[in-house]
Amino acid sequence: MSPAAAEPPLWEQDAGSERRGERLQKVLAATGLGSRRVCEELIADGRVTVNGDVAVLGRRVDADTDRIEVDGAPIGVRPDHVYYLLNKPTGVITTSRDPQGRPTVLDLVPATPRVFAVGRLDADTEGLLLLTNDGELANRIAHPSHGVEKEYLAEVAGGRVGPGALRALRNGIDLDDGRTAPAKVSQPEPGILRLTIHEGRNRQVRRMCEAIGHPVRRLVRTRIGPLSDRRLTPGSHRELRTEEWRSLLDAVSRASSGS
Ligand code: URA
Repeated sequence: MSPAAAEPPLWEQDAGSERRGERLQKVLAATGLGSRRVCEELIADGRVTVNGDVAVLGRRVDADTDRIEVDGAPIGVRPDHVYYLLNKPTGVITTSRDPQGRPTVLDLVPATPRVFAVGRLDADTEGLLLLTNDGELANRIAHPSHGVEKEYLAEVAGGRVGPGALRALRNGIDLDDGRTAPAKVSQPEPGILRLTIHEGRNRQVRRMCEAIGHPVRRLVRTRIGPLSDRRLTPGSHRELRTEEWRSLLDAVSRASSGS
């Protein structure tokens, strides 16, 4: 066992620290500051504070509630990375250039630094889209095996969806590219479905609804993992808050560990 993994003697622990939470060096490393060894050195050099107190190696923290700073700056988003949450309107395409000259999502966010969309929404789908220049996080979110949930509201043709069709959506639908994974489905109003899926197949929600005889009339993505924002108006974007970015990282790590 490496010396850093051992719990420090009680008299070296910060006043009030408890045997709870995660090890500070692990939390720091998860933010991309560097390897655990590098983060251990930052702590050993006295450059890390927790709730204003200089931290010692082995200190446990609650990343959601403890205020953790390195050289006086709160940990979180790397300064060279940007993360935008965009509410994509219909008629705007997700790819970066369109031969037909339609507006793209890149027209709706700052041109520099250059970002790209994480996954895609159809031109006729509205709602939340994440754009970033953090390729590693983007790959992890977009990868179906990481299973970050995406929630959609679908207004469907044909009125109230019957229990058999809802059950079919929940169990998985046979599409031409294979059976869909079980979805979470509710019907908050007749003819309006709330669907939560973690795959990202082409036009998946539309094809699932079509398959049960209720084609989609309007489709809005309302959540990506922990990210939602009812106040973000179509066409507008904002940067992720540090807590949102952190919970997104958590959601990706949880999904990829299968817990
Ligand atoms: N499912 C669809 O059918 N379209 C989208 O844009 C996203 C999910």
